[in-house]
Amino acid sequence: MSEIKQNGAITREVVLAALSTVIEPELHRDLVSLNMIRNLEIENNEVTFTIMLTTPACPLRGKMEQDSRAALAKLPGIGKITVKWDSNVPTDQRIMKQLGKNFRSTIAVTSGKGGVGKSTVSVNLAIALAQEGARVGLLDADILGPNIPMMMGVGKMPPIQDRKMTPAEAHGVKFISMDFLVKPDQPLIWRGPMLHGAIQQLLTDVAWGDLDYLVVDLPPGTGDAQLTLAQVLPVTGAIVVTQPMQVAAADALRGLIMFEKLDVPILGVVENMSGDFFGTGAGEKLAAEQGVHYLGSVPLDANVRIGGDSGAPIVVSHPDSAAAMALRHMAREVAARVSVTIAGQQNNFIPIEMIG
Ligand SMILES: Nc1ncnc2c1ncn2[C@@H]1O[C@H](COP(=O)(O)OP(=O)(O)O)[C@@H](O)[C@H]1O
Ligand SMILES: [Mg+2]
Repeated sequence: MSEIKQNGAITREVVLAALSTVIEPELHRDLVSLNMIRNLEIENNEVTFTIMLTTPACPLRGKMEQDSRAALAKLPGIGKITVKWDSNVPTDQRIMKQLGKNFRSTIAVTSGKGGVGKSTVSVNLAIALAQEGARVGLLDADILGPNIPMMMGVGKMPPIQDRKMTPAEAHGVKFISMDFLVKPDQPLIWRGPMLHGAIQQLLTDVAWGDLDYLVVDLPPGTGDAQLTLAQVLPVTGAIVVTQPMQVAAADALRGLIMFEKLDVPILGVVENMSGDFFGTGAGEKLAAEQGVHYLGSVPLDANVRIGGDSGAPIVVSHPDSAAAMALRHMAREVAARVSVTIAGQQNNFIPIEMIG
């Protein structure tokens, strides 16, 4: 700070010089050159400004605020400091180009096999992002075994208008599922091309509106649905869900490798159902071995299942539980990885400037 010549007055220049020593921990550049400092106002040496984030679900808010306050506190004569927040999620430009939809990003949730908690992770991720203020859609791409409606607690969609489907809405999230389009108890038998068409329709013939994040819940395995999705939708990144046992991690690895082969970036691995019963550790090990981010572990908790069965996912029904906290932590990590991934995509580490 010694280079700042300051003769008592708090000016724009000294404030910006101080804030330009604060580093955005994910992007490794300072807040000023990233154009993250907005609406700077100085009155009687009291400073108010907004930090513009790349996601409302930023995991590093606390650190950035602390560092900003510490940098400003070094200025002699500084008065009260007020930090406000706003956000602007960066845009994966490929989505509008290829699909004509105004989604800023898309997140696929995958694993090698069923029953590991993909749908559970998908609904809680979507709701947690919406709770932070993001505009979120959830696509149930498990055409053969759709269970997002049950988990979200809404069994049908609004009537079709202008030959477009309107997504159902619950817990602040818009969602659509093949479950809305088939009769109950009727087994779904689809061939590959039909599956392709169905997933495409649920993307294109739905009035989604503008979204910051579209979360896509995939069926188990490494089959047609994964392939179709990567063909019809530019996937910003994928989350791999695994259980804590080593055998489960082997399945999850197949899911991970499939997306890597499809050139979909891996946002990270989440371990679900951790605890005494299934153990713990396979998720972190898998992430380390594959050189991808570890998004944390979600404990095995009966309330997670009850929440899913009853249409009130645990981030809504028991927001203070360890499982809900783990899921919210995961959601923030995912949001941060999406921002970093899009920044890297453009070969441009200034997502905020990019979107003005
Ligand atoms: N952390 C957890 N603790 C307890 N039950 C869970 C947990 N995660 C998922 N479940 C339950 O396990 C079952 C399978 O989860 P689901 O999300 O449907 O898996 P998938 O979509 O991978 O097939 C569901 O009944 C769900 O409620
Ligand atoms: Mg599922």
